[in-house]
Amino acid sequence: MRSMTCQLPGLLLRATRGCGRIRVDSASRGANREPPFYRHSILSFRFFSSSGSSPSAMAAHVKALTSPYPGSQVKRWPVPPEKVSWSVEWPEYQPVEYTAPSVLAKPPWADLPLSTSGFCPRFNALDGKVQRESFEGTYQVEDSTPRNPAGRTGVTGRGLLGRWGPNHAADPIITRWKRDADGKAVSDPDSGKPVLQFVAIQRKDCGQWAIPGGMVDPGELVTATLRREFCEEALNSLEKDKGEKDTEKKVQDLFSQEPLLVYKGYVDDPRNTDNSWMETQAVNYHDGTGRLLDLLPLEAGDDAGKVTWVDVCSKCSLYASHASFIKLVAEKHDASW
Ligand code: BGC
Repeated sequence: MRSMTCQLPGLLLRATRGCGRIRVDSASRGANREPPFYRHSILSFRFFSSSGSSPSAMAAHVKALTSPYPGSQVKRWPVPPEKVSWSVEWPEYQPVEYTAPSVLAKPPWADLPLSTSGFCPRFNALDGKVQRESFEGTYQVEDSTPRNPAGRTGVTGRGLLGRWGPNHAADPIITRWKRDADGKAVSDPDSGKPVLQFVAIQRKDCGQWAIPGGMVDPGELVTATLRREFCEEALNSLEKDKGEKDTEKKVQDLFSQEPLLVYKGYVDDPRNTDNSWMETQAVNYHDGTGRLLDLLPLEAGDDAGKVTWVDVCSKCSLYASHASFIKLVAEKHDASW
């Protein structure tokens, strides 16, 4: 198992729509309730205004304005910060339409084009097994097309995202205290506070370091997603036979630790569009003793090219909003940042 600081190697610093006319869906929320075991929900952490009433979109979109759009040459319509909010009139706004060929190829994880006859997704609702509710409340649906609750992005369509509206992910933040060769906890010389470490993966799609998260499958409990994604990306479970999986007991013990819900909501993600966006639940599982995690053999798999322990510190530059989640975890454990 390797251990390293925040100076990560290779780190990239950074139609006819037959389902109705203009309307605002107002189905009630509810299916994404927190599992009862979440002892703590840091709801003050928001990309939205502290009043909690309306999305503070101006502050939200930075990565969601990344141009060209990831994996393409498509240039977003430039959106200055003061024009992100839908509440600002902008008749000249002409976003580019883009849905990636991989999404248009109709993979099982993606919706159909909205123009497809008979395809009428129920937005702001649990639509069969597909969760189309947003953690941010009721989002607008105009001309049968959902509208990004955090504002303009300069692109319409779905880009690389499969779902119209919210695309739900889950991020397991696995932490332990950094220890020296004698097993003594290491403190940061400046802050005097103990140094926390978390499991980071290097994403194959963009080369950026990230929490080993992933998409919640239709009908899947988020607790199952958290565990599955960690096993697939940080333990390479997909490539292991059942018989080889002697780490399963340790994984079981790890995910039986009391979890801490760090964040739940909209994510400023470079893949977001005006009609499709990422939301996530970031959950911390902390091994205070280090005994559990020291024995887990990290091995990158699935969407991860590399996996390693990373020291938590303010210089961490991570994918999407992941650094913000890590900061919250450091605060929660009163660790060095
Ligand atoms: C990633 C998550 C991330 C989410 C939003 C997902 O594709 O797997 O780690 O939080 O996107 O950026």
